[in-house]
Amino acid sequence: MREGDAAAEILDWYDRHARAMPWRTGPAARAAGVRPDPYRVWLSEVMLQQTTVAAVRSYWERFVARWPTVEALASAEDGEVMAAWAGLGYYARARNLLACARAVAGEHGGTFPATRDGLRALPGVGPYTAAAVAAMCHDEPVAVVDGNVERVMARLHAVQEPLPGAKPRLAALAAAATPRARAGDYAQAVMDLGATVCTPRSPACGVCPWMARCDGRRAGIAADLPRRAPKAAKPVRRGVLWVATDGAGSWLLERRPARGLLGGTLGWPTTTWGDEPAGEAPVAADWRAAGALRHTFSHFHLEAEVRAAIAGGAPGRGTWIGAPAFDAAALPTLMRKAHALAQTALEAEGSGAGAGAGRRLPGRS
Ligand code: ADE
Repeated sequence: MREGDAAAEILDWYDRHARAMPWRTGPAARAAGVRPDPYRVWLSEVMLQQTTVAAVRSYWERFVARWPTVEALASAEDGEVMAAWAGLGYYARARNLLACARAVAGEHGGTFPATRDGLRALPGVGPYTAAAVAAMCHDEPVAVVDGNVERVMARLHAVQEPLPGAKPRLAALAAAATPRARAGDYAQAVMDLGATVCTPRSPACGVCPWMARCDGRRAGIAADLPRRAPKAAKPVRRGVLWVATDGAGSWLLERRPARGLLGGTLGWPTTTWGDEPAGEAPVAADWRAAGALRHTFSHFHLEAEVRAAIAGGAPGRGTWIGAPAFDAAALPTLMRKAHALAQTALEAEGSGAGAGAGRRLPGRS
């Protein structure tokens, strides 16, 4: 069986089974000459890294409604974009998104470069995103390799070497399989196959367009591939989050440094996160224990204690921010969870004989 036939088989499958996605120009539209808008494709691909299609959909729709062009996004305030990104996680992506939009608007006249190499030179655009935009928007015959594609290649060629060591080999197999024509449809076809047929557990080999040529299936090991080197367990770090309100609608928030975890986002003042968390409460107050939180980041689990207070006066750190600028829904997930715990604790205290009795709490989310 030849490689050209393999591409034809999966493209034929894609013509019939392509998933509808708001950012996608499907195979029929593509055949009719519709050209995808690189801005919309780039935005979706940045959002889809580390995040599922289901979670991305509403964020992508809100972004393109609010910032319909790369110039519009480039002109947005950093804080507005960070707030619109809140909940998608991996906030470095939002900072890179803005840096890239500003480079395209400022240095490329608002037009994304049309080649993988040109795209790769933009700030924050990695090899995956550059290949995805070049293939999907311009049909450049480059391999687009994400986790789905690695899994499909590992099974198709029965690659036994575990990830991550097998990455270069899987990328080379993906490159060798990429056809010269319809490269964008082909890239998305392999991703769709991985997401809907060649799934991590219980692959549906019986309906796979590559069933007859799959070495993994023939060897009876498809579902066990790709193999993975055992992962080191994530360490646990500890910390404290301080959630203060003035009881009249304002909350004490702090913008985190641009680099580092949750970089550039607005949230509650915290200690450092580690074995021995360091840091002082941001304002003098009668701090109450409001509960504990567990939150998982890419490299560690955080076990944090939330302290809450009704306070006033000049803070040592952070700024009092009131509605409408304060929007609990625009906080990163960890900070939203801490806000909910603090609200509950302070309301319980307000309804009893505690220090905050009688004061109404604003901004219940
Ligand atoms: N995952 C990331 N981008 C995708 C796309 N365009 N189609 C299918 N799956 C994807």
